Amino acid sequence: MSYDSEYQASIETPDVFWKEKADQLDWFKKPNTILAKDENGLDRWFVDGVMNTCHMALDYHVEQGRGNQIAIHYDSPVTDTKESISYKDLRDQVALFAGVLRKQGVKKGDRVLIYMPMIPQASIAMLACARLGAVHSVVFGGFAPHELAIRIEDATPDVIVSASCGIEVSRVIDYKTLLDKAVELSSHKIKHAIIWQRPESVANLVEGRDIDWRLALETAQEADCIPVLSTDPLYILYTSGTTGRPKGVVRDNGSHAVAMKYSMKAIYDMDPGDVFWAASDVGWVVGHSYIVYAPLIQGLTSVLYEGKPIGTPDAGAFWRVCEEYGVKALFTAPTAFRAIKKADPDSLCLKPYKLSNLKAIFMAGERLDPATYHWVKDLLNVPVIDHWWQTETGWAICGNLMGVELKEAKAGSATQPVPGFNVKILDDEGNEVGANVQGNVALKLPLPPSCLATIWGNHDRFVDGYLKTFDGYYTSGDGGYIDEDGYVFIMGRTDDIINVAGHRLSTGEMEEVIASHPDVAECAVIGIKCDIKGQKPLGLVLLKDGVQKNENQLEAELVSNVRSEIGAVASFKEAKVVQRLPKTRSGKILRKLIRQIADGEEFSIPSTIDDPASLTEIESVLCAR
Ligand code: COA
Ligand code: AMP
Repeated sequence: MSYDSEYQASIETPDVFWKEKADQLDWFKKPNTILAKDENGLDRWFVDGVMNTCHMALDYHVEQGRGNQIAIHYDSPVTDTKESISYKDLRDQVALFAGVLRKQGVKKGDRVLIYMPMIPQASIAMLACARLGAVHSVVFGGFAPHELAIRIEDATPDVIVSASCGIEVSRVIDYKTLLDKAVELSSHKIKHAIIWQRPESVANLVEGRDIDWRLALETAQEADCIPVLSTDPLYILYTSGTTGRPKGVVRDNGSHAVAMKYSMKAIYDMDPGDVFWAASDVGWVVGHSYIVYAPLIQGLTSVLYEGKPIGTPDAGAFWRVCEEYGVKALFTAPTAFRAIKKADPDSLCLKPYKLSNLKAIFMAGERLDPATYHWVKDLLNVPVIDHWWQTETGWAICGNLMGVELKEAKAGSATQPVPGFNVKILDDEGNEVGANVQGNVALKLPLPPSCLATIWGNHDRFVDGYLKTFDGYYTSGDGGYIDEDGYVFIMGRTDDIINVAGHRLSTGEMEEVIASHPDVAECAVIGIKCDIKGQKPLGLVLLKDGVQKNENQLEAELVSNVRSEIGAVASFKEAKVVQRLPKTRSGKILRKLIRQIADGEEFSIPSTIDDPASLTEIESVLCAR
């Protein structure tokens, strides 16, 4: 099979292409209508198909005689625990926990919020929701109570599933206390919290509201898979937008399952029985797609790793896991390899391990910089594949298709569009530009299966944010170019979103927290270069007139505020006081220009600048850091 024929088929006859892919799944009722417009005039896939994602991920494999195969290897160096769960065991545990949820009144369409560390119970809770046709919303553990409360208010769940604690290397994070605080802050009141107690910190349970997971299992009855329509939502996943409020990306059941299965073979070249490891977190889209759903739908063994690339216990952690479980493909963010390279520059920690099963490394979450690409390639001598994607799509938009035709890689490029994605580079007026010209990366409609069809509770935000800028296109928010060979280079966001350690964060949200400090008149947060995390946030603040404040004291307060309002994940550690911020005459802060100065890049002074002298001051503040 050639990439070109596969890709052309997906663009020229998408309905034929995706029908064939959909036929490979075990539907309760196969779809007859492959692509149709919904009531909003938007493209929807497999609208009359009836199915259940949990059935496709678990029961189907057990029925096919795959019950004894390992579904999940849970490996937790932070608790010194390992557990291998077969498909049959996982199905049984999920069915029973679905029974617990059902007993608390959870039914099809209800939202269940999941706030969990990287333990098998996180996957079990997600799959149990899918089994009931309920809509889960997983919130990453690194977010603070305020962020959790925003998500509770938006998704309005009756039930939250959580654990007593998570472990960050050796630090115990008391999830239950954070959850209690969030519930208190939220104007939406939940009915129940189901808590998985961990011995590292056993939580106090609120009588009448909180339920001990293990106790609840004792009286639970297994629940069957509830048939849902392909277009019924499987989950809501909140992601950073340019404003303070995160947006809830809504993922359909059917189209998601089809894209997950297709991608596992086409992109990652994984066949049933193979071992796949996405070293991410279930709280991110990578975790949803490639720790939980796609590997299981494809009948693989998925590694669930509760640890870090370094420090748990050393920079050989990834190599140990790859050898121990016979990992065939590892998927993580470039930042993980930068951390390993820094901690173990001579790769001494790799020496004890044999990685004969490892066939490829996949990276996403941020641009794979050429230096890291070459380092990993030379070290492991397997294909190193950069693939570009977003929470909104749920899978890769561009990549090098291991399971179709592996192309020669170009460092810095995510190779070519994945079948189904019609990638174009547009100028600001919406005209397609030529080869090697930078512009806005846009996707010509229709989007392929698994891409979002709306924002939870705010359809206008979806239309305004993604579909209105360029008629007939989805705007990705990324800038980049396509070279003369059709290779796509993603160069970074064109909006106020930054990527810190592969985590997507909104600078606007941080600015809101900083601006609420009583001494601050105005501020700007920009993402500046970081050797390990790719980018890190830097705050520039103007004090209110008459305020005399020690700069270190102010910085400490702002750092603490961002940590307690947004969470540790924001990695906000630096704020500088300035007298002026460079702005356009219409008052827009020139963030890109500030970033270029901070990163030591060449820049040109825009003709719209209001006060050129403000640049001199910013330069001296940034240079003095
Ligand atoms: N629960 C609570 N706190 C969390 C957390 C969680 N699930 N995840 C991260 N945090 C905390 C960290 O402990 C850290 O706190 P600190 O500032 O007090 O040290 C903070 O949030 C920032 O986390 P992070 O940016 O991840 O930094 P780190 O120093 O802990 O780790 C890496 C850096 C590179 C090792 C780590 O980010 C990593 O392994 N990344 C690659 C994999 C990945 O996550 N990819 C995501 C998308 S594919
Ligand atoms: P998220 O929604 O958290 O997956 O973040 C999506 C954003 O991360 C994209 O819009 C890009 O800015 C960035 N990103 C993800 N993968 C890549 C990649 N391979 N190359 C460049 N940027 C990437």
